[in-house]
This record gives sequence, structure tokens and C-alpha cells, in this order.
Amino acid sequence: MSPDVRLEVLTCALARAHVEALGQLLADCVAQGASVSFLSGLTPGRAGDWWAGQLSADDGRRLVVAFDRQGLCGVVQVIPAGTENQPHRGDVAKMLVAPRARRQGLGAALLAAAEGCARDMNLSLLVLDTVTGGDAERLYAKAGWTPVGSIPGYALSTDGRPEATTVFYKALA
Ligand SMILES: CC(C)(COP(=O)(O)OP(=O)(O)OC[C@H]1O[C@@H](n2cnc3c(N)ncnc32)[C@H](O)[C@@H]1OP(=O)(O)O)[C@@H](O)C(=O)NCCC(=O)NCCS
Repeated sequence: MSPDVRLEVLTCALARAHVEALGQLLADCVAQGASVSFLSGLTPGRAGDWWAGQLSADDGRRLVVAFDRQGLCGVVQVIPAGTENQPHRGDVAKMLVAPRARRQGLGAALLAAAEGCARDMNLSLLVLDTVTGGDAERLYAKAGWTPVGSIPGYALSTDGRPEATTVFYKALA
């Protein structure tokens, strides 16, 4: 990861100050074809509104956010499962690295920080899903996550084609 990049762990309340930048990041990633819940045409404003909704109730999630000299350039969330029978489990969601900051180890650094954060939250099992065959799949496999299997036609690509998703888990030591 570039020495110019710093990571911060934020609660929902603290992350609300960054809703606009988070919206821009999400919109930029979708514009480049990232399959992260939205179809193409997502505007930064609508993406910011989505983040505002996500962060409105403090559900105990933590965001690991990356900043470079230009501003916010990456994010990943650790979201507690929130059910009585899964106090130990969380989801990793919305791993996003700005196009300008990719292939420099930031995704791997965000993931490692998210795992550290999960330990601090007393979580011992993490789950995520990602497009089968996508760039992120290699990121997770390289970081020791276990693929459970692939679900065909799970979601639509940004241009509307059905794509498979791979579910991964990691048990934290
Ligand atoms: C996937 C994503 C987070 C990777 O971020 P990144 O900062 O570029 O990742 P890193 O530089 O830490 O790469 C870590 C490893 O992931 C894999 N990887 C990441 N991007 C890759 C690419 N474009 N092609 C091939 N492998 C890739 C590689 O194994 C890489 O290790 P290496 O560089 O030593 O080969 C980033 O491309 C992104 O934000 N994509 C759009 C949003 C998205 O799809 N998020 C995933 C949601 S589940």
C-alpha cells in the first residue's frame, strides 16, 4: 500500500461525515462495471443517499476507510449479523477501492484491517459474497478466505446480465 494512504476505522456516526465522498466512490466503481448492488447509471447523489440510509441506524458496524492526498479512496464494512444466535458472525460488505488507487495493495490492506476490526468486535466468523471470476475473488482467495460455492444467476451485472456469485467465509483465529 502506498505510504501516502492512511486507514481509519469509523463507527456509523463518524462515517456520516463522509457520505458524499462514499457516494462518489460507489458511483465511480459502478461506472467502471463493479457489481455491488446497483445497475449502471448510479449517480453520486443517489449513491450518497444509499450510504446515508445504511449509516442512519447505528447497528454496530464498522467502516474501514482509506484516504490518500485526493481524499477518500477506499472502504470496506464489517457488519455484525445482529441475530441472537449469531453473536460471533459478521458480514464483510462494500469493499471498494477508487480506480486511481487500485493494484497497489489497498484492497488487501482494507481486508486485513477489516479482519482486525472484526476481532476487536469479538467476531470470529466472517462471510462475504462476490462475483464469480471477478478481481475481488482473487483478493479474497489470496487472503485465505474459503470459497463455499458459486450460485448461478445470483445478481445482474451493471449492464443487466445475470452473473454467478461466490460465497466465501473466514474463521478468525
Ligand atoms: C476488487 C478491488 C477491491 C481490489 O482492490 P485493489 O486495491 O486493486 O486490490 P490489491 O491491489 O490489494 O490486490 C490484491 C490482490 O487481489 C487480486 N486482484 C485485485 N485486482 C485485480 C485485477 N484487476 N486483476 C487480477 N487480480 C486482481 C490480486 O490477486 C491482487 O494481488 P497481486 O496484486 O499481488 O496480484 C478493486 O478492484 C475494486 O474496488 N473493484 C470494484 C469494486 C468491487 O468489485 N468490489 C468487490 C465487492 S465484493
